[in-house]
Parts: sequence; structure tokens; C-alpha cells
Amino acid sequence: MELDVVIIGAGAAGMMCAIEAGRRGRKVLLIDHAKAAGEKIRISGGGRCNFTNLEIAPERFLSENPRFALSALKRFTQWDFIARVDAAGISWHEKTLGQLFCDRSAKDIIALLLNDMAAAGVTLWLETAVAKVRKTEHGFDVTTGRGQVRCRSLVIASGGKSIPKMGATGFGYDIAAQFNIACVPTRPALVPLTFSEHELAHMAPLAGTSVSAAVGFDGTEFREGLLFTHRGLSGPSILQISSYWQEGQAITVDLCVGERVSETLKILKQSAGKISIKNALARTLPEKLAGLMTSLAGVTGTLADQSNKDLERLAGLVHSWALKPVGTEGYRTAEVTMGGISTDALNAKTMETKDVSGLYFIGEVVDVTGWLGGYNFQWAWSSGWAAGQVV
Ligand code: FDA
Repeated sequence: MELDVVIIGAGAAGMMCAIEAGRRGRKVLLIDHAKAAGEKIRISGGGRCNFTNLEIAPERFLSENPRFALSALKRFTQWDFIARVDAAGISWHEKTLGQLFCDRSAKDIIALLLNDMAAAGVTLWLETAVAKVRKTEHGFDVTTGRGQVRCRSLVIASGGKSIPKMGATGFGYDIAAQFNIACVPTRPALVPLTFSEHELAHMAPLAGTSVSAAVGFDGTEFREGLLFTHRGLSGPSILQISSYWQEGQAITVDLCVGERVSETLKILKQSAGKISIKNALARTLPEKLAGLMTSLAGVTGTLADQSNKDLERLAGLVHSWALKPVGTEGYRTAEVTMGGISTDALNAKTMETKDVSGLYFIGEVVDVTGWLGGYNFQWAWSSGWAAGQVV
């Protein structure tokens, strides 16, 4: 079978690229080993797909070259994707921090992409494995479970390693290795952090408790929800900082953002000195968390028993709790994979590899990782669109 374009991976990036190339009259084949296209879209955003963010900006993407993503993000913006969502009659809402979700279901986004692919004449092969890729004089031979196909352009859109249970593989990195294309080491990101037995013993009784917090690492800070779990810490602020955190280092947690806990406690001491220090703090924090903080600060008794210095020490802990994670929950639960195909190896405008003509990488397999909140889908749409204009 002879084609203009073969795309491997029918996720967000692969489908967008297929639509654009098909609209340009290219003969396009999209291959995926999964049973259905867009499986990650289906489960994303709690089933409602946080499909983009109103506040897309290059500094909200991590990469060895943070400027790389700029070109694609500028050429196919969040507004361009919103226009497609609107044209398809999909209703949506902003949840928080510019995050846009479908009102009804993530399946609406998949239907939009499948409809556009059908209209653009794209052929979709599901449950099809790719055994081998070979460079030829005019393009590539791709050996698949349904036989051999030939193409001029080959696009790798196979995503990262996150959630192997859903079919994630290291396929894209293997293809990069085959063609000597540089890769930035990968690691799980947007992922819950885990703690030592010792620290977990303190935290485990709080499992299920959530607070609004500011979580920081090395000058970067996120003010969002934080959730105590049986394994450690999760919630948006923790997922966000996991992309920045480095092994062996501590994160800092402010459990009472925007309030001056020492002042609050000192004032309360004047009017209600007889209440226990734990209950006094529980006016600001969930009760179990107040218990943990007072015990870690080593303060007991009533408010009146505490010196101002004790109250300041306790408040210091509440506002700047230093915690040293031992690791992350790994690819099993990570939303994304950091690292991947080095942006140095790619043309920022087209996503074509500089050294292998006709070979493209798009989406999460590339060393571009967005913040939590629709940034990663926007990168998939933008990079897929960019390649789709030229393949
Ligand atoms: P994606 O992983 O979507 O697609 C890759 C495709 O390649 C898959 O269909 C896979 O089956 C296929 N494939 C892999 N190996 C193959 C092989 N060897 N042969 C054939 N096919 C192969 N982002 C966001 O912006 N908003 C959100 O709400 C969420 N929510 C979210 C929830 C959860 C639980 C996860 C795990 C992730 C998110 N994300 C997210 C991240 C987002 O899902 C992710 O960044 C994009 O799906 C990446 O799109 P890609 O098309 O690059 O890869």
C-alpha cells in the first residue's frame, strides 16, 4: 500500500496531524495498536477532557529548550482549538485557572476528531502493531500487523510512557534510537509524590484530607489543592511541583496561604487562652492536620501555655513545612512523561527531524511538557497541526 503519510499513534497529536494532512489532499494512514483512538482523551479531565487553557504561555512548558514550543503554540493557538470545539457545537466551561472542560463528555472531543478525520479521508487502522520501520530512498517502509505500507512522510505520535496499562510504550524513543536521534532522559511528571515510612506514618492518618496550599521547589510555586493519600501527597499543587522536583531535595508547603497564622494565634491567645493549642489551630486547618502540625512542632497544652516564640515556631512550620519526597508513584499514575525527543533534533516550525528527512515527532513523545490544566493537550494540538501543514 502506497501512502503520502503514515502516522503512528491515534492520540490527540496524531489525530490532529492526520486531519490537517488529509485536508491538504494527502493520502494518510493513522495506525494505533489500541482498540480505540484517543483513549487518553476519553479518561482525561475526569471524563470531561480539559482540552486547553486560556492562559497558554511558553513559560508554562518544561523543556531543555523552553522556546522550542513557541512557534507551534503561536501558529495553532488555544483560540483555534476553541473555534473547532464551538463549530462542532460542543459546549464547554472554564473550571479554574483558565482550564476549559467539556460540559458533557470527553467523548465529544474524540467524536469531533474522528468526524474531521473521516471528512478529510484519513484511513484509521486500530489494533495494528508496528513491527519495523525502514528508511528507503523515497521515504519509509513500515511493517505492520496488516502488512507492509510505504510512505513519504512518517510521523511518530506514540506519546510518552505514562499509564502503560492503557497502551503507552517506549515506541517513539526506540525509533529515535534506531535513527540516532537524541533523547532527553525521561521521567514521570504530573505525578503524586511518595514519602519514607517514617514520614508516611505521620501523614497516613490524614489520607483523604485536602487543603488549599502553596507548594514550592527551587523558586517555583503552585497555589492549588493538596491531597493527603495513603501513599503520600497528591492534588494539583503536588502534581505541578512534581515536574520541577529533583530527587533528594525537599519541597516546601504553605498550608495556610495568605494568612498570618502567628498573628491569628496571638490574637486568639488574648481572648481564648484556655483552648488547646491544637483546637486553636483547628480553627484554621482541618483538625487532623492541626494535630499533626502541633505534634511536629512539639507544642502541647493550652494557648495560654505557649510563649510567642512557640507560636511563631508552630506558624513557621504551617507556612513552610519542608518535606523530602523519596520518589513518585511513577509511570503507573503519571499524567505525562517529561523528556523525550530532543528539541535540538527537530525543526520547531514543522517538527521534522533535522537529520532524517521525512521523519517527524509530535505530541508528548517530544521533550515538551506542559503544566497541569490543558497545556499538554494544547501542545498535542499545536505540534500535530504544525506537522500536518507540511507532511
Ligand atoms: P497519546 O498518549 O494521547 O497517544 C499516543 C497513542 O499512540 C496512543 O493511542 C497509543 O495507543 C499509541 N501507541 C503507543 N505506542 C504504540 C505502538 N507501539 N504502536 C502503535 N500505537 C502506539 N492533558 C491535558 O491537557 N488535559 C487533561 O485533562 C489531561 N488529563 C489527563 C488524565 C490522565 C489520566 C492522563 C494519563 C493524562 C492526561 N493528560 C491531560 C495528558 C494528555 O493525555 C497527554 O499529554 C496527551 O494525550 C498526549 O497526546 P499524544 O497524542 O502525544 O499521546
